Amino acid sequence: MADWTWEYEGYHPAQERLRESLCTLGNGYFATRGAAPECTADSVHYPGTYAAGCYNRLASDVAGRRVENEDMVNLPNWLPLRLRTGSGTWLSPDTHKVLDHHQNLDLRAGTLERTVRYEDEDGRCLAVRQLRLVHMADPHLALLRTQVTAEGWSGEIEVESALDGTVTNSGVERYRSLASQHLTDVRTGTSPRDTVWLRCRTSRSDIRIGMAARTVTDARAVTDARAVTDARAVTDAPAGTGVAHDNARAVQLLRLSLADGRTVTVDKTVALHTSHDPAIKDPLHAAVERVGRAPDVETLLASHRMAWQQLWRNAELDVPNSAGPVLRLHLFHVLQTLSPHTADLDVGVPARGLHGEAYRGHVFWDELFVLPYLNLHLPEVSRALLTYRHRRLEQACRSARNAGHTGAMYPWQSGSDGREETQQLHLNPRSGRWLPDHSWLQHHVGSAIAYNVWQYCEASGDTEFLHTKGVEMLVRIARFWAGIAAYDGTLGRYRIRGVVGPDEYHDGYPGAGRPGLDDNAYTNVTAAWVLARTLDVLHELPELPRRDLCERTGLDSAELDGWEDVSKKLYVPFHAGVISQFEGYGALDELDWAGYRERYGDIRRLDRILEAEGDTVNRYQASKQADVLMLGYLFSPAELGDLFRRLGHEVDDTAWRRTVDYYLRRTSHGSTLSSVVHGWVLARARRAEAWTYVHEALAGDIADLQGGTTGEGIHLGAMAGTLDLVQRGLTGLETRGGALRFDPVPLPELSEYGFAIRYRGHRGVQLRLSADELLIAVPVSDKEPIDVALADRTVSVAPGESCVLTLHTFREGR
Ligand code: BGC
Repeated sequence: MADWTWEYEGYHPAQERLRESLCTLGNGYFATRGAAPECTADSVHYPGTYAAGCYNRLASDVAGRRVENEDMVNLPNWLPLRLRTGSGTWLSPDTHKVLDHHQNLDLRAGTLERTVRYEDEDGRCLAVRQLRLVHMADPHLALLRTQVTAEGWSGEIEVESALDGTVTNSGVERYRSLASQHLTDVRTGTSPRDTVWLRCRTSRSDIRIGMAARTVTDARAVTDARAVTDARAVTDAPAGTGVAHDNARAVQLLRLSLADGRTVTVDKTVALHTSHDPAIKDPLHAAVERVGRAPDVETLLASHRMAWQQLWRNAELDVPNSAGPVLRLHLFHVLQTLSPHTADLDVGVPARGLHGEAYRGHVFWDELFVLPYLNLHLPEVSRALLTYRHRRLEQACRSARNAGHTGAMYPWQSGSDGREETQQLHLNPRSGRWLPDHSWLQHHVGSAIAYNVWQYCEASGDTEFLHTKGVEMLVRIARFWAGIAAYDGTLGRYRIRGVVGPDEYHDGYPGAGRPGLDDNAYTNVTAAWVLARTLDVLHELPELPRRDLCERTGLDSAELDGWEDVSKKLYVPFHAGVISQFEGYGALDELDWAGYRERYGDIRRLDRILEAEGDTVNRYQASKQADVLMLGYLFSPAELGDLFRRLGHEVDDTAWRRTVDYYLRRTSHGSTLSSVVHGWVLARARRAEAWTYVHEALAGDIADLQGGTTGEGIHLGAMAGTLDLVQRGLTGLETRGGALRFDPVPLPELSEYGFAIRYRGHRGVQLRLSADELLIAVPVSDKEPIDVALADRTVSVAPGESCVLTLHTFREGR
């Protein structure tokens, strides 16, 4: 692995799905897994193509119940391209001898190169080199270039290039018994100029999909263009090619003559459109036209590379040691999922990228780990992602009303229209049992949205958004919290009952008749923050928009007084001198951690282990992921101190450190988000163990630490979280009060690093930190100087200037 490439040697079926996920290519509009073009979906391979925001809903019968799930749809596979020598069988790594196999993901260029040398039935060697891209400048185009060389022989080969509409959503083993046929009305056909096409639609959401492929080769190598035998119809093919289509596969067949050692190139250019696209007549025509208009491969490659070059310039990152290349890979996948093209789409942050089918492409609170990073690089993308939430505000209000609440109750899992998409049942693969899923009670997702609104507006200075869509969301989310909080006269506090916190292991009290927990500290403290922050924003809102908003939402001073009261009196439970994860957490049994580790080794999914044993994790002080400690992730020590003080508690450094230790011993890290948060919190607390967690966060997907789940899609939140860990976690960077504030903490394993950010109209602001210096360079522009604040001084850096600040001492503290 070099700095900009990610390489895989050899063919290892057991690793294929992981590689496919990590070698996914995408452009924010759509992405395609790094599957071998000659292989169809089976137990080893899973080609998958997903367009952002393309969902479909299907009903299934499981465990005697009828359930509905909305899935991000696996679109027709555009990759298929297979080869055979003479009259042999199609070459495949699973049926033929593979002499060499090498994959090279080039992050700088955004291309995946694969070289494979096959030995056929007669012992003849065929070298194949394939280069593919999903175009970053023209988001509807993809390309697969295949170069074949006969080694030590001359003769004919056949090439079959296809678009395959027979695909289903079957990439996740746990979902196998659920309905998976999302595509219907698949039709194929041919167009002039070596083009085949496929169109279809999703069965219920009725999204129409058009795909076209044009496969061309060096005409001198073509010897025959006979039609494919299994095709239903063959149209007039231009000289030198055979173009055919059957029901659900559009096939183009070439017979080529190879001379020993001479390389023949076959280029397949593909276009994809859906009926969600603007400025098209219909998806099929758009795809056929686009592929027809596509320039030659060299031009396509050049414009693709340039688009990537520009992206990298916006998101420069220079981290030494082994962490650097991993962070770059993470950035690559973040940018492929959420690119500048995303700014034009109505989509949210899919938790598993556009890289696989886990979590059905749904949108969770994971944007909390993604937007703070994007805010300082692609603010227009952050704005679009928040607009996705704003467009679904009405639905969130409807969900709240239907549940008997006020304000906006955002769904834990969101898809196309913003209704709750959390599965009703989930499968424990260990026990084979389908279990009720109460994770929809994670109403804290609303606070994550509010937090992101605030963070985005602070970082970008986009007051227009804050004063319109932003404040509207804040008000409705605040109203939800104020409404759901019930006053308890005995405690003299407001309580929020029946919820689930970030730790999904705990979804109820042992033996209780209802799901949900009371007074989840994270939920309550963040709700208090939302209320307080919304009051601040309303206070600063100019007279006119404030009056409009009050008229629209029915806000009056009595309601605002109520919010003020709730924001100061939400109940936060404590036990043993630490913040309790929820009321009663301290009374739960202690788990025999050592015993379980010894018995099972990997206990990240302790919930599944215990359930399979006939027990429940609800009985134990055992958390899946950071819950209370999330507070130290979201808020700086000063902010957290203020928040607790507002709530009438003094949580000093000692109490916080005690809380960190307490939960550290009781967390199994069954979510990749957990190591990000722990790495961050421990680094900020200057604790030596920080690197262990940072290292785990970096290894999460590349080493597939969550037991095979990366093959089902990357963990986008954790990937972006590691980037933000460098950007904000280690630097203590905050965009508060119109200044860039720094409060760096040392992490010896990452002692010097640099990156560029976009801040309030300044592009390419360079930052470089070492143990004792902070360098900031502001590029020339007509913008205002940037105020840079350290704990002990503030300086102003004008455009075209740079400044080195000595970091005298690292302040002690959490
Ligand atoms: C985590 C959630 C997360 C979800 C999607 C779950 O395993 O517990 O916090 O939102 O994955 O990434």
